[in-house]
Amino acid sequence: MLYLDNAATTPVRREALEAMIPYLTTEFGNPSSHHTFGERAAAALADARGTVARILGMRSSDVVFTSGGTEANNLAVKGITIAAHLSRHAGSARHIITTPIEHESILESVDYLRRVHGFTVTELPVDAVGRVDPGDLETALRDETALVTLGYANNEIGTIQDVPALAAIARARRVPIHVDAVQAAGWLDLSATTLGVDAISIAGHKVGAPPGTGALAVRGRVPLEPLLHGGGQERGRRSGTESVAGAVALATALALADAERAEASARVAGFRDVFVAKVLDAIPAARLTGDLVHRLPGTASFTFAGTSGEAVLLELERRGIVSSSGSACAAGSDEPSHVLLAIGIPGEVAQTSVRFTFSARIGTTDGAADARTLGEAVAASVAAVQSAA
Ligand SMILES: Cc1ncc(COP(=O)(O)O)c(C=O)c1O
Repeated sequence: MLYLDNAATTPVRREALEAMIPYLTTEFGNPSSHHTFGERAAAALADARGTVARILGMRSSDVVFTSGGTEANNLAVKGITIAAHLSRHAGSARHIITTPIEHESILESVDYLRRVHGFTVTELPVDAVGRVDPGDLETALRDETALVTLGYANNEIGTIQDVPALAAIARARRVPIHVDAVQAAGWLDLSATTLGVDAISIAGHKVGAPPGTGALAVRGRVPLEPLLHGGGQERGRRSGTESVAGAVALATALALADAERAEASARVAGFRDVFVAKVLDAIPAARLTGDLVHRLPGTASFTFAGTSGEAVLLELERRGIVSSSGSACAAGSDEPSHVLLAIGIPGEVAQTSVRFTFSARIGTTDGAADARTLGEAVAASVAAVQSAA
């Protein structure tokens, strides 16, 4: 089987697994305990925090380990807006800016603040490839804006935003900006300093660490209200005994992915381009969704109008290729993707979408697959579905 759903999740890297084993066995201490076991666990946690901070271009004290991307995004959206609301001019910070193509963990957190706490929300428009115009952010910013939150790279279509331009506009108005870098990790530069952002979310299971690991880094000067209250771990920003093993695995996998990023991105983008060209050439109904240039190296998503996305997926799987109809989070739902609808694709065409997301190893000997052969298999699957219809 060829697994082409790496945006949903990735296997745990052996190095990450090996790095975490001691912290599940012999070095099992609680990092808050004041004895040798605790101190050794605390040292490992500090080390992991330092590695994550370096890659995210933040200070160690800015990093909060979380249970994954969803928690990191919830903490960023709720924690920053509520803290701003509590601290700024007697509650004047009541406005949030986002986009309609975000992951549910951002959209639903923003909607919670709107429904339950009366925040107002602006969704910036996106163009036909899913890009935000920085000029629209400039127009949307208000004195009462508490947060700008948006994805660095989209999980369904792979479109990359011009984060430095957007961040410069938010910062000029002194409004904190958070980016969801869950899909960008392992492919793009995550340095918050280079990007100019105030907060950044990552998830371990997208880069070879286990599910249940992740982090949010928030600049020290940005107030953050915790979601989890208790023993005051993570400098009071996320109570609960830390998973030292998880943090070590996250740091190990992220550091490896970051070190391999330049070579992997170039190789995988080359593979993807050959694959995309083959699919578009062989299937007249195929349309690539997302930006041609500003796109994650590992993402190729299409619509095959006149077919059923589900039927194409099943036919592909029969031929040994595993892909997805869009985001795994929306799986099981018959609704067309909110991302595809937002970029102007009609509902019935959106339901024919198939997303291929490559691993960083594709195109190497142990990630063996030939881009043209793969494109031909997709063409044959689509043709089989069309002729059965
Ligand atoms: C862009 C994006 N943000 C957030 C998440 C949520 O991350 P997690 O699965 O670690 O909760 C995902 C997961 O697919 C994602 O693609």
